[in-house]
Amino acid sequence: MAILPHSLLPGPEAQVHSDRLRAVIDQAIRAAGGWIDFAGFMSLALYAPGLGYYSAGAVKLGAAGDFVTAPEMTPLFARTLARPVADTLAALHAAQPEVLELGAGTGRLACDLLLALAERDVVPERYRILEVSPDLRARQEVTLASLPERVRKRVQWCEHWPESFCGALVANEVLDALPVHRVGWRGAQGWVEIGAALEGGRWIPAERPLDNPRLLERLPDPAGWPVPYDTEIGLAAADLVATVGQSLRAGRAWFIDYGFPAREYYHPQRVGGTLMCHIRHHAHPDPLVFPGLQDITAHVDFTAVARAAAGAGLEVEAYASMASWLIAEGIVEELGRLPPEDAGRYLPAAAAVHKLLSPAEMGELFKVLVLRPGTGREPLPASLAG
Ligand SMILES: C[S@@+](CC[C@H](N)C(=O)[O-])C[C@H]1O[C@@H](n2cnc3c(N)ncnc32)[C@H](O)[C@@H]1O
Repeated sequence: MAILPHSLLPGPEAQVHSDRLRAVIDQAIRAAGGWIDFAGFMSLALYAPGLGYYSAGAVKLGAAGDFVTAPEMTPLFARTLARPVADTLAALHAAQPEVLELGAGTGRLACDLLLALAERDVVPERYRILEVSPDLRARQEVTLASLPERVRKRVQWCEHWPESFCGALVANEVLDALPVHRVGWRGAQGWVEIGAALEGGRWIPAERPLDNPRLLERLPDPAGWPVPYDTEIGLAAADLVATVGQSLRAGRAWFIDYGFPAREYYHPQRVGGTLMCHIRHHAHPDPLVFPGLQDITAHVDFTAVARAAAGAGLEVEAYASMASWLIAEGIVEELGRLPPEDAGRYLPAAAAVHKLLSPAEMGELFKVLVLRPGTGREPLPASLAG
């Protein structure tokens, strides 16, 4: 079955762009001897300079793009996050705490969070954004230009991780956008690594014996799995969280994303893994099509992320479903502040809150992991045990 209806297929300009990226990836596959691992493929498909899905100029987020994230759905998401962020900044006021947002998308969360912090009179000394996509950074600059000058001037973009950071770190749907490796369990034949190869000018998924030492260290227990069983291992997500551990001196980090603890991630029934692609609001599982024009994402293994955090001296302060976390932080009260008679504002906000909280939509699939500096020896919460 076709992935997209004819009316949504890429136009000639998008096709030219996609073909240029295809040539870059073809070259990378040839240079590597005919096969690249999936993380290498995903990294080029999403982040090849000037051509990758995130690096280049197409609209990605929102109704006109390929997918919608929580801060794009309603400002109430940012307003709810503002409460614990404000508490964190206020508790550290002597140290001039900052906010650091990773992967800020269109800048919507930054804009609404700053406005909500200003209302609470806790505007941070600096709101830093670490963004790898030049296109999204340009979009963020436009969004944030609408802020009052006294707030806008606190925003700074940084190219690298700060060596040391004190305050609130926020990352919404960033970990799922990081490259993952794909591995497969073949029963008596053992483990394979799944990558991309060229055949007759087309990309095909191709398997190699698994010998990457970092993957060998992270292999899940295949007991009870059907054969074949394919899944993902997110080394880059673990590395990113370990970097946070090296920088965060005081404060908290919030990672909000879709995913599971390891025991659900590597469940015997999840035979095809969690890899998913999004194009024009259509979801499908084939990452080898529409290069540069579609998002490729994998769910987050929160147990692995929490272990990497612990390895870098961070402690899990909380791990919760998005629904329970948003309710505990007051999203229902935030909705209650909107006048219901203003149907133009109230009804879309109520619909968005329903989507964020509903177990059938984002409420249970999305999780919130809150980290803070610790000793790294604190036990993981039982809900994250592997
Ligand atoms: C799915 S989008 C989410 C955007 C936004 N946070 C939101 O919720 O709407 C992923 C974002 O992460 C950024 N990103 C990917 N890898 C990153 C990294 N290593 N460091 C910082 N940002 C990154 C992407 O460029 C993009 O802005």
